[in-house]
Amino acid sequence: RSRGVLAGKRILVTAGGTREPLDPVRYLGNRSSGKMGYAIAEAAARRGAEVILVSGPTALTPPLGIFVKKVETAEEMRQAVLTEYAACDVVIKAAAVADYRPREVAEHKIKKTGESLTLVLEKNPDILRELGALKRHQILVGFAAETQDLLSNAKEKLAQKNLDMIVANDVTLPGAGFNADTNIVKLIYRDGSVEELERMPKTRVAEIILDRVCDLLTKKG
Ligand code: PMT
Repeated sequence: RSRGVLAGKRILVTAGGTREPLDPVRYLGNRSSGKMGYAIAEAAARRGAEVILVSGPTALTPPLGIFVKKVETAEEMRQAVLTEYAACDVVIKAAAVADYRPREVAEHKIKKTGESLTLVLEKNPDILRELGALKRHQILVGFAAETQDLLSNAKEKLAQKNLDMIVANDVTLPGAGFNADTNIVKLIYRDGSVEELERMPKTRVAEIILDRVCDLLTKKG
């Protein structure tokens, strides 16, 4: 398989999960470890790209030679991504962004007074959808983390978010999705074609995603 050279290309990768604060000590989060996104960022840097990694909190070591912008909330991720977007050739959004955040963030630690506690959540911006609407020359790659109807849900996200490719993972499969070292994905393109990959290390998935990104860049000319 050809290893496209990405020298002179600026690639933005998002990784990890966002955290939405409830009070000074608590947050709503998800199980993303950042492994998938970090693997893509490292592989892109090895191919000579200038890489910007916008990362939610993770336990991973920031890769050398990559500009890492750390964020916590979806809104912070949105700001960081929008700031860089115009100057990027490729954006790959592996991050697991919270769809909702607590409407109120308590100034002080919430006390355990009642027998139950009701949280009111409000919608977060869909960063990738915004990028799709603003897209000019960029190649936009999204992910879809699904627990049912993988292909139809992923195809809908590809269309709604105006993506060039979507990486669909059924996160209920063993050896796939959140926190695993391997992943099982299907790559879906604008023409509806689907490329199924077997279970493989996230580092290998990252290389194949970048091979396809190189093809898309070549096609674009
Ligand atoms: O980090 P790991 O532990 O290695 O796990 C990898 C992973 C499972 C997190 C990764 O493979 C993955 O699937 N990432 C996308 C997770 C996700 O949030 O999927 P989604 O189907 O909810 O979102 C679809 C796309 O829109 C994603 O590219 C997401 O970054 C983006 N999005 C979603 C919501 C939102 N408010 N803004 C967004 O930009």
